[in-house]
Amino acid sequence: MGWNSWNHFHCDISEDLIKKTADAIVSSGLSDAGYKYVNLDDCWQISRDSEGYIQEDKAKFPSGIKALADYIHSKGLKFGLYSDAGDFTCEHRPGSLGYEVKDAQRYAEWGVDYLKYDNCYNNDILPQVRYPPMRDALNSTGRPIYFSMCEWGQYDPATWAPEVGNSWRTTGDISDNYDSFLSILEQQVGLEKYAHRGAWNDPDMLEVGNGGMTTHEYEAHFALWALLKAPLLIGCDVNNMSADTLRILSNKEIIAINQDPLGIQGRRVLKTDQYQLWVGTIVDGIAVILFNTSSQDSNLSFTFEQIGITGQAIIRDLYKHEDLGKFPNSFSTNVPTHGVAVLKVVPLSFAY
Ligand code: GLA
Repeated sequence: MGWNSWNHFHCDISEDLIKKTADAIVSSGLSDAGYKYVNLDDCWQISRDSEGYIQEDKAKFPSGIKALADYIHSKGLKFGLYSDAGDFTCEHRPGSLGYEVKDAQRYAEWGVDYLKYDNCYNNDILPQVRYPPMRDALNSTGRPIYFSMCEWGQYDPATWAPEVGNSWRTTGDISDNYDSFLSILEQQVGLEKYAHRGAWNDPDMLEVGNGGMTTHEYEAHFALWALLKAPLLIGCDVNNMSADTLRILSNKEIIAINQDPLGIQGRRVLKTDQYQLWVGTIVDGIAVILFNTSSQDSNLSFTFEQIGITGQAIIRDLYKHEDLGKFPNSFSTNVPTHGVAVLKVVPLSFAY
């Protein structure tokens, strides 16, 4: 869990912005809610020196990346950087292909805790060939660095990526609109079998708070990403968040689904023209999401059989933070258009 500069700021990043962002992650309570990584995306780097070491853009980061990492660590947060398994990054800054060892060494010296590794300008070399050298270089530094692979779901990542990265992108880039969110969600169906602790499907970063979706759509996006065990990387301007944005991002009961110790990715069990039913096993029950994909507010329901339980169950609404009571064998509720009901279902046989 953390924040990444790309979705909101693209290349418009600077030392000042990143420091203010780290401050806001702490003062808003987001770090207490679990968001720890502050990740720079593309455009922090500019060139290589005569020995081949990567150089930061001093116009944007006058004190250097090491000083920025130190500042972020001093706030109790972790620091992430971005590079590319190609000749250039997507914004045509120097890539790491052929420089894996030198770059990993530098990252470790700077105190990097997370590397996002992109896929542009890759000379048509398979990712299975380009990504393992960076994994090995990072490992050989001796510093624990989360390895986030951004290969856009190409070349069937499930067959090789869990051995190489801590997470791998399953699709192309998300954009801040409902159709993009829905299309990325659709592409996650069936991928749950490849994820486990330490190796996660990544449906791309959050757009919550960027302005292109309704509050109900952002609630759906956030809850479904949590259930998918996605890396929860905030992509908005945390210095200018609405109350709704902060409320959604810091919903501790939904974050608990994402961070559940079992690490079992949720799955879709039903899709109709009107709605979708998603379910995930968590340590103390079942997380259930009713997602209203129709264009009107609707009463939606599920049977206990559909979510794999029998007998009575106690149900709690995780956006309303309300215990709803005990139910015999099914449940129904009103769900706004493009919104969700996020429920924790505890079968009585589990309860004390
Ligand atoms: C690619 C990635 C994005 C972002 C940009 C930066 O498109 O998929 O997430 O990192 O590059 O250029």
